[in-house]
Amino acid sequence: MITGTPGTGKSEVAKLLGRRLRIRVVDLKPFLERAKVGYDEKRKSDVIDEEKLVRLFKGLEGDFILEGHLTHYLPPDEVDLCVVLTCSGKELRERLRKRGWSEEKVEENVMAELVKVCLGEAMDRGHKPLVIDTTGKGAEEVVEEIVAFISERMKKKV
Ligand SMILES: Nc1ncnc2c1ncn2[C@@H]1O[C@H](COP(=O)(O)OP(=O)(O)OP(=O)(O)O)[C@@H](O)[C@H]1O
Ligand SMILES: [Mg+2]
Repeated sequence: MITGTPGTGKSEVAKLLGRRLRIRVVDLKPFLERAKVGYDEKRKSDVIDEEKLVRLFKGLEGDFILEGHLTHYLPPDEVDLCVVLTCSGKELRERLRKRGWSEEKVEENVMAELVKVCLGEAMDRGHKPLVIDTTGKGAEEVVEEIVAFISERMKKKV
């Protein structure tokens, strides 16, 4: 699974990694829709039933790369590898502005990245993540780092 603040490059990296490893990529978004239980006006975000989300995840068969900013909700024992993508605030701001997002939404996400919300939540749930700083890198380079990590780990297991 690949998690990280919006704009850290999850979808881009997952797509390339999926091609490289010949493994299917599953996007979290449709699952979020199905696990939605309301809308928080104050936080301007959907309220997700975490247990329902995990149940939906568990229903998936076979091997896959799951990408999305709440994929770390999946329990560690269901996951072979948890990857957390990070990015400097400055570069993330530039990436998110390119999407045409409002300044408020951009800054909210830059702040979430600076305090490493996804990484903290992943570790709180017991994941032992591979953390990759994507600042100044292309998605291909990030994929190479993930592949190298997996190869090393497989060597150790033999
Ligand atoms: N090293 C990198 N890895 C991935 N994407 C990068 C990188 N550098 C720049 N980008 C660019 O950053 C932008 C954000 O990437 P992407 O849409 O994959 O993010 P995301 O994490 O999936 O965001 P969201 O959570 O909103 O779906 C894209 O325009 C992508 O081309
Ligand atoms: Mg994405």
